[in-house]
Amino acid sequence: MKRYFIPFALLCASLAFASCSDSEDNEINTPIEEVVPGTNHRVLVAYFSEPLPDGVDANTSASRVIVNGDLYGSVEYMAIVISDATGADRVRIQTATPYPGNFDDLASQADNERQNGIHPALATEIENFDDYDVIFVGYPIWWYQMPMAMYSFFDAYDFAGKTLIPFSCHGGSGWSGTVDDIAGMEPRATMVDGYSISRNSVAGSENGIREWLQRIGMLEQQ
Ligand SMILES: Cc1cc2nc3c(=O)[nH]c(=O)nc-3n(C[C@H](O)[C@H](O)[C@H](O)COP(=O)(O)O)c2cc1C
Repeated sequence: MKRYFIPFALLCASLAFASCSDSEDNEINTPIEEVVPGTNHRVLVAYFSEPLPDGVDANTSASRVIVNGDLYGSVEYMAIVISDATGADRVRIQTATPYPGNFDDLASQADNERQNGIHPALATEIENFDDYDVIFVGYPIWWYQMPMAMYSFFDAYDFAGKTLIPFSCHGGSGWSGTVDDIAGMEPRATMVDGYSISRNSVAGSENGIREWLQRIGMLEQQ
């Protein structure tokens, strides 16, 4: 198969402003709670990442990235930076049947899933999903959209009332409309501005990711 992708050329603002009055004479004001990311609300980083495990020169393949001698998937690396910076829990979204470990088979399976609308079964189960109110969702761009496993992920959980923050890595296609896709599937979630980078920039992306987290009010206070 042709290696087509080279030319691709909170805010969770207020959890807090609940106030009410009872029917009697006392007005009860719930104290305003300041939102401090990583402390008084629960943050999860859920990500899908499929670095190619073999047969690929890690120095030239951008489907994985080496930082300080350690090997990561591109989105995996972004997820680690985000969870370290925000104090979030982190979980990898994995399919029940692992994807092939070589590019051609992976690309053709991903294309088949996409063309046939297949939502693959997931191995990942997040039992305490309801405990989280802010969820970073990370994925690579596959065939100009999210991997179909991400659709399985959105099928599996109820995001109503939650804050959703997308992040993504690509080979040149940018977001490819995926933020709108998520917003369309999760109309009752609050979407916050996400972060998307080229796989060529992942290794040096930590500062940029932290600046974005600061902008959206999610950088954990030190
Ligand atoms: C099956 C497959 C399809 C891809 N399709 C696209 C695409 O349509 N547009 C794009 O910009 N990059 C595409 N890429 C490149 C990935 O988005 C990029 O390598 C990303 O960094 C992979 O992240 P990961 O290492 O965390 O899995 C594709 C990669 C694969 C494996």
